[in-house]
Amino acid sequence: MITHTLFDRAEEAAAYVRERVGAAPKIAVVLGSGLNPLADRLEEAVAIDYAEIPHFPATTVEGHRGRLVVGLLGATRVLMYQGRFHHYEGHDLDVVTFPIRVLQRLGARSLILTAATGGIRDDLRPGDVVIISDHLNLLGKNPLFGPNDPRLGVRFLDLGSVYSPRMRGFAVEEATILDIDIKAGVYACLPGPSYETPAEIRMLRTLGADVVGMSTVPEAIVARHAGLEVLALALVTNAAAGATDAPITHDEVVAAGLEAAPRLGSLIECVVMRLDIDSEPAPPPP
Ligand code: HPA
Repeated sequence: MITHTLFDRAEEAAAYVRERVGAAPKIAVVLGSGLNPLADRLEEAVAIDYAEIPHFPATTVEGHRGRLVVGLLGATRVLMYQGRFHHYEGHDLDVVTFPIRVLQRLGARSLILTAATGGIRDDLRPGDVVIISDHLNLLGKNPLFGPNDPRLGVRFLDLGSVYSPRMRGFAVEEATILDIDIKAGVYACLPGPSYETPAEIRMLRTLGADVVGMSTVPEAIVARHAGLEVLALALVTNAAAGATDAPITHDEVVAAGLEAAPRLGSLIECVVMRLDIDSEPAPPPP
């Protein structure tokens, strides 16, 4: 019987992408809600709809375009995923993280994740950019669950340092140069799709969370499994539930993303440039 493994599916998808764009960039970016316009910064861009890539599911979320774009960000070639997959869309976590597996097969080394989040910590305001320093996986699931293929990564993955200190350092330094007020914090990942209750936000605060969202964590875990270096930037799009009487809406989340996209775009461009010129290689796969 011919078995079509995750490894094979990722290889097939990567082969198709290579056919369309040539050698793949070493640096990739995942664009979250409202942040899709960041891909418009790419010059000499080649875009591929997810629907064209073998084994890619379709995105169903408004504000997520569903395209892979390769092009020049400044002087550096970058791959951007314009739109991601979420567990709440009904996808299993191996589907949610499939684009990250493809990055590994393409030979990428560094990954920048972006995400819209609710701000839990008192000093966080809509529009703030938070460098994720660590996370709480509250999905009740792990994307590495199931048989492990050693070609994709190790069985028991260390998560002591998911978010690269080197890349976080670049982000802090470049934000300072750009005069962007940057903060750091712990991201709590919940399955959604409903936003949290005020009681859940009180619980998350007690657990040590600073921002809350419905993505990023499965991708970060799989990226580390795949040996990629990871930076995750959370954009605070709204105050978390209970802070005000106003309801949280997806429109507000997308609008805040669109408003912040130019600032976040400049920051990402500068971090990418630093990655490109820094001679220190990305750490070896775990
Ligand atoms: N909660 C969860 N996910 C989110 C939020 C929020 O308040 N804002 C943007 N994504």
